[in-house]
Parts: sequence; structure tokens; C-alpha cells
Amino acid sequence: MTEAQRRIVAEAWAFRTRVEREAADRFIRLATAISSFDVASPVPALMRRAAEDEQRHAALCVELATIYGTSEIGFAKDVPIAPRSLEGRAAVLYEVVAACCITETESVATLTTLLAEEVEPAVEKALRAIARDEVSHGRMGWAHLAREAARYDVSFLSSWIPAMLSGSVEDTLFLEPPEDRDLLRYGVLPPSTKKAIFARTLEEVVVPGLETFGIDGGPARAWLSARIH
Ligand SMILES: [Fe+2]
Ligand SMILES: [Fe+2]
Repeated sequence: MTEAQRRIVAEAWAFRTRVEREAADRFIRLATAISSFDVASPVPALMRRAAEDEQRHAALCVELATIYGTSEIGFAKDVPIAPRSLEGRAAVLYEVVAACCITETESVATLTTLLAEEVEPAVEKALRAIARDEVSHGRMGWAHLAREAARYDVSFLSSWIPAMLSGSVEDTLFLEPPEDRDLLRYGVLPPSTKKAIFARTLEEVVVPGLETFGIDGGPARAWLSARIH
């Protein structure tokens, strides 16, 4: 492993630490918001548990960042991501769909791809522990969407999906490592692979999932063909 590669790997794990911490804070905030309008929902309890998972993931990521040589993690801040024109319940739904149905589902696909590779034992341990939890984090998003869709028309989300996708891509592809397959064993995907996984998961899992709730997948597909393919 060269010094440059080591630096990229350390930065990638530091970046993931920030993403995990931000997710923890977001889930706590969303849990409080949801319990204010849907007292019978099981989702807030799931989100509080998920926040604990994310803190655990952050600790695993810090460990790897440290192994590969950085102790500078940087600061993560949770800010509401819904557009200003959405209020209350709709704004919460926007965030839950973006953070869980899209980001967590994409995360599972990325982790599964990495785990199919030969990775370093310490990296594998972290990836497995994280992957186990992210599946249920995706599910709690779909559960909230299902509860909301049973009460009101959620088709307005259709035109917002491209904005969610841009946000999610910025998050996950913000740190663009070089196209280096040697980094796979340290848990860093080449950007081309990462984009391909993102696109396939969107087409095969996320968009069909949204469509079952009457959210038209047209804008999402147009976004994808303009940016990724
Ligand atoms: Fe996580
Ligand atoms: Fe998660």
C-alpha cells in the first residue's frame, strides 16, 4: 500500500464516520417529529434504535480511519434537508424517504458489493456489522412511507425525488477516490463501480418501491439517465 493510497483510505473512513454521526442525529430528530403527529407509529422507536446503531457504526469507522493513519475526523452537523416549500408532515416524509428509502437502501447495495470482494479482516468486520443494521434502517423508511400513504396522497413526492437523489449522491460520492481497484480491499470502491451500483439499485429497488405507493418514477429515471449513464 502506498502512502497516497493509505491517505485515501483513511479519508474515506473519516468521511464515513461523519456520515454515520450525522445519520444518528437525524434519526433522533425525525423520531421526535414523527411521534408528534403519529403517536401509534412504531417508527420512532425503530429510529431511536437506529441512532444507536449509527453511533456504533461511527465507532467502527473511526477505528479504521485510525488504523490507516488519521485521527482528524472532522465535524458532522445534522441539518433538515427538506425544501422550504414543504412543511410539517410532508417535510418529515421527504427526509425519511431521502435518508432511509434512498440512502440506506443504496448503502446496503454498496456494502454487499464490497463484501463480495476480498477485503482486509478489520475492514470486513466493520462492513459486516454495518450491513446487518442498514437493512432494517431502510425498512423503517418504507414502513413510515406506508403509514403516510395510507392517510394521504403521497404522489407529490415524485417531483422531489431528483433533489433527494442529488443530495444522496453528493453525500456518497462527495469524496471521489481515484479509479483504483487496489483500494477495494480497504473498503473503498472505484467511482465507476459505485455509480453503477447506485444506478442499478435505484432502477431495481428504490423506484419500483416508490411506485407501489403511487409515486411516479418518471422524474427519478430522467435524473438517472441525464447524470449517471
Ligand atoms: Fe450506518
Ligand atoms: Fe443506517
